[in-house]
Amino acid sequence: MKMNKLSRMLFLALLPATTAIAAPAADTSFSVIPAPLHIQAGKGSFPLNRQTRILVEAGSKDLQNVAKELAAGIHRQSGLQLPVGALGKMVPVNAIVLRLQADTLGNEGYRLTVRPGLATASASQPAGVFYAAQTILQLLPAGPSKSPVLPAVTIADKPRFGWRGLMLDVGRYYYPVDYIKQYIDYMAMHKLNTFHWHLTEDHGWRIEIKKYPRLTSVSAWRNGTQFTNNRVNDHPHGGFYTQEEVKEVVAYAQSKFITVVPEIEMPGHSLSALAAYPELSCTGGPFEMPVKWGIQKDVYCAGNDKTFAFLEDVLTEVAALFPGEIIHIGGDECPKDRWKACSRCQQRIKDNKLKDEHELQSYFITRIEQFLQTKGKRIIGWDEILEGGLAPNAAVMSWRGTKGGIEAARQLHPVVMTPNNFMYFDYYQGEAYLEPYCIGGFVPLRKVYEYEPVPAELNAEEAKFILGVQANIWCEYIHSPEKANYMTFPRAAAMAETGWSSAGRKNWEDFTRRMESQYLRYDNAGIGYATSAYNVMFKVETDSVRNKARVTLQTDSYRPNIRYTTNGNEPTATSAQYRQPFEVDLPVNIKAAVFQDNRVRGQVSGTAILRKSAR
Ligand code: ACM
Ligand code: ZN
Repeated sequence: MKMNKLSRMLFLALLPATTAIAAPAADTSFSVIPAPLHIQAGKGSFPLNRQTRILVEAGSKDLQNVAKELAAGIHRQSGLQLPVGALGKMVPVNAIVLRLQADTLGNEGYRLTVRPGLATASASQPAGVFYAAQTILQLLPAGPSKSPVLPAVTIADKPRFGWRGLMLDVGRYYYPVDYIKQYIDYMAMHKLNTFHWHLTEDHGWRIEIKKYPRLTSVSAWRNGTQFTNNRVNDHPHGGFYTQEEVKEVVAYAQSKFITVVPEIEMPGHSLSALAAYPELSCTGGPFEMPVKWGIQKDVYCAGNDKTFAFLEDVLTEVAALFPGEIIHIGGDECPKDRWKACSRCQQRIKDNKLKDEHELQSYFITRIEQFLQTKGKRIIGWDEILEGGLAPNAAVMSWRGTKGGIEAARQLHPVVMTPNNFMYFDYYQGEAYLEPYCIGGFVPLRKVYEYEPVPAELNAEEAKFILGVQANIWCEYIHSPEKANYMTFPRAAAMAETGWSSAGRKNWEDFTRRMESQYLRYDNAGIGYATSAYNVMFKVETDSVRNKARVTLQTDSYRPNIRYTTNGNEPTATSAQYRQPFEVDLPVNIKAAVFQDNRVRGQVSGTAILRKSAR
């Protein structure tokens, strides 16, 4: 959905004047993201060397894999290749020990102790040890280093929420399997655990369904794409994942303790399927694969039993491919125009004593829910599935703000919070004039960070139904892995901390400090992230009587060295340094940038402030 861009004025009004969150009690010399629950510096350090071994308790294949992952990560960061061995009876020395041990920190929590010569990671489940390994990698120097050293530390950590998700829309653009795996790697590095794979859209069906070959021969391809300014090019675009590839992705994600939640959209966002099987529509078609973005009026016919037979066949194959319990059935943005004019849909309404087309949608989703229950699956859907009545066991993804999430939690249904005004990473993350073309909106890093997933409106009992938080990357204007990375990072780090760290551990300034290391990690991993957090934003209060303006410069970065000019010249490392709000005579042309190592970090921002009065 396209949002109006927030005006700069409105954005600045929304910025908090000060950081209201209390500083964390823990040591601030580490740069672990998301922030651990408890972290305490110890004495000394543990330099890793060629004799250091990673030791695993015998018998756990999962731990063996975690150990190999850790060894690969240390090798990537330092060039040091540590052997993996079995933990014996002897007290280990010069070792990183990974073990399973009953604990009170839950399925994903872990303990990690580093002292000179020994690091020990333990958890009650392999997922916890995996997260401990991610933390170990973040304790090493973030930049490339030939002498990897772990600082002495004691950590006890566990996530706040069980659902920490990212959604990638591969319907608008197909992304290759190799990129999907990379994306999963990036998620793991942020301790995210749910990959929501948006596999079907009006503009492309991306999953092979053996019983319906036209879904991949027809529905996966289109003859052009709408670009900026409504221009439509005539480049064919398409692609799909074979079932073998899907299994490969699911297994890969499992190895990183990530659950893949497939989304099969219904009853709307389904024109690609109708282009191949027009008999499933209300009008019978024929339909072309759409090349322009936007909500399509042709949707599955809810009055036709063939629609349900088709979807049950599709979901039978989907359910067999994805071992996770939850399947996303879409449910958003389904125009009711065709249903209103369709005799079969109207007959269905009559036969089932439904009030209107919203109740018909509810009938549709409930019928699908009942079918999926026979496959041992539960459904989640976008918050429109509340309209006309929620299916009895459905979970809700709250995207149109938080209203749907509040309503669903009050009905004691599980909720994932993904409100568009905080968690839509297809929205601008900086001032539009400095950003690549986006669909609209304004969700800078700080806004993501300051999101609190449990709405204040809920009581303690209802709040328990908030499963967690997710960010969505809709891809109408995200056509490449490079742009997907740019839109996802660093905002995913802010979302990850919101999903993992307890509310009391969150601290914006400390987060920006730790992000300085995270950006180096992104460089090491080859993630082309956005540097928008370094771009200077202007807050301008104009005094039109005196023809002066008071100017405040802000960024979403750590203690920025901002340099600025007021004569329209490009700022340099020796231009005036911004220390506090200043007053200027109008008119003025201000340019400003953050400098690191005498170079611009991010981009140069500019604003021209005109004289308001005619004096
Ligand atoms: C959505 O953004 N239509 C869920
Ligand atoms: Zn119909």
